[in-house]
Amino acid sequence: MECSTKVFVEGALGIKAQMNQAVGCLVIAFQAEDIKNAKKLSGHLGALNTATHGAIAKAIDQGDLDTQAGSTLMLTSTDAWAKLGLKAERLLLVCAGEEAKLPPSSSKAGHSFSKWLSSGLRALVGSSAKDALWVFTALPSKDGLSQARLLVQLAREQLYKFGARHPQFKTKPAEKAPKLKKLFVASNAKNNKDLQKALSEGLAISNGMDLTKDLGNLPPNICTPTYLGQTAKKLAKDYGFKVQVLGRKEIEALKMGAFLAVTQGAKTPPQFIVIQHQGGSAKEAPTVLVGKGITFDTGGISLKPGEGMDEMKYDMCGAASVIGTMRAIGELKLKKNVIAVVPTCENMPSGDATRPGDIVTSMSGQTIEILNTDAEGRLILCDALTYVERFKPAAVIDVATLTGACVIALGGVHSGMFSDNDELAEKLLTAGKYSQDTVWRMPLDSAYQEQLKSNFADMANIGGRPAGSVTAACFLARYTEKYTWAHLDIAGTAWKSGAAKGATGRPVPLLVNYLLAQ
Ligand code: BES
Ligand code: MN
Ligand code: ZN
Repeated sequence: MECSTKVFVEGALGIKAQMNQAVGCLVIAFQAEDIKNAKKLSGHLGALNTATHGAIAKAIDQGDLDTQAGSTLMLTSTDAWAKLGLKAERLLLVCAGEEAKLPPSSSKAGHSFSKWLSSGLRALVGSSAKDALWVFTALPSKDGLSQARLLVQLAREQLYKFGARHPQFKTKPAEKAPKLKKLFVASNAKNNKDLQKALSEGLAISNGMDLTKDLGNLPPNICTPTYLGQTAKKLAKDYGFKVQVLGRKEIEALKMGAFLAVTQGAKTPPQFIVIQHQGGSAKEAPTVLVGKGITFDTGGISLKPGEGMDEMKYDMCGAASVIGTMRAIGELKLKKNVIAVVPTCENMPSGDATRPGDIVTSMSGQTIEILNTDAEGRLILCDALTYVERFKPAAVIDVATLTGACVIALGGVHSGMFSDNDELAEKLLTAGKYSQDTVWRMPLDSAYQEQLKSNFADMANIGGRPAGSVTAACFLARYTEKYTWAHLDIAGTAWKSGAAKGATGRPVPLLVNYLLAQ
């Protein structure tokens, strides 16, 4: 889907010119108060009501359009419309409800904003319109830009169809590619430049999310560590990144004993991927993103139960999200230095696999007693977190589908965020609110470190059932003392289960927002 602005003069002249656009669908997003009195429609709705011979007032009277946020009305054009100056093939009205004027950074309004917007977009994408002009009758100026960005993201969300992007997996043609190809957003001369920028950001975020979703949704026999490495190389070519993909020999040379313990049961070779975007000066300290890339997590010798195990193909969503974020910032030519680091392998049981009780030495020199081979994410991450010290980073953010405990704690609403740096934590909270890709701060007190004590090594790789996502983060904290660090546990937010099973593309919006705000 392409997306751009169309400039209109404000006020009554604006609606006349908007009605004159021969688009597949003219979408009017209005406030609840605009339709409180069906007899006295004014402004945009008044003009449209006249052009449709009173169809809008009638729909309100009949209860087909109400003041509830997300209420929609789709009308198909008649010959009479054109004569009255309304040239669109369809007219879609979307009610923004009462809270539309609150900034999206307030959690109540932000959530409701995406909800009514999605409701309107669902009606639009469900129609056969090839192009559309979206008009916000009241776009609050300060927060309008993050709202416009969200509009694009949510539209693209509705347009993402894995089956249409990867038809090779079904012998009968699966989902049809959606019809909507162009979305115009009405603006005025004053805000046009900023709005156009917001739309470009929305598109770049969406392109990054689509890549993240594709990588997550692809089957684990296709999306292997090698495949992730090839994806990184292709991305580097497309956007001018520097890229390195290390294999087993090089990982051994780096003495990544914890990472190697996870991969040793698998036939598929591991990869260690480093992607560098130099958008700032050579002197500027980079932001480093580290993504967990377990392309399939069986649990290893501490084997997982069979039910739903297929979903462990999503255990590389941390990796997919940092790769998707790189795509977005490459497209935006972000003027900052950003590095993505992805340790990736499979976690398999075999005669060569790590046993519970094995003790390994991580790259940092610290020893780990592996009491449960299913707590493998922290093992590949700890070596990556030691590796990134060499970049003297301004901040390191790791992203991982790390613990089932985080799903229990926060469900699919917020990602878990852990950091002992209040400034970084605050920035991530804010970026989350503005992108509607929210995080919830979790504790990281040293008191929890007690649970990781081992009788035989420097630490155990598990801390028991209580506070499972906290002790996992505490394990990582032992490897990040040399820099500013935050950990995002996306186990609950990276994909959806059930009938709508699929990757969500989170936390690409959060990460891109964070990077844009620096
Ligand atoms: N990849 C899983 C975490 C996970 C589980 C994410 C379910 C999403 C849904 C991780 O490697 C894992 O297995 N963690 C264990 C840790 C435990 C053994 C301490 C878990 O959460 O059960
Ligand atoms: Mn596991
Ligand atoms: Zn895992």
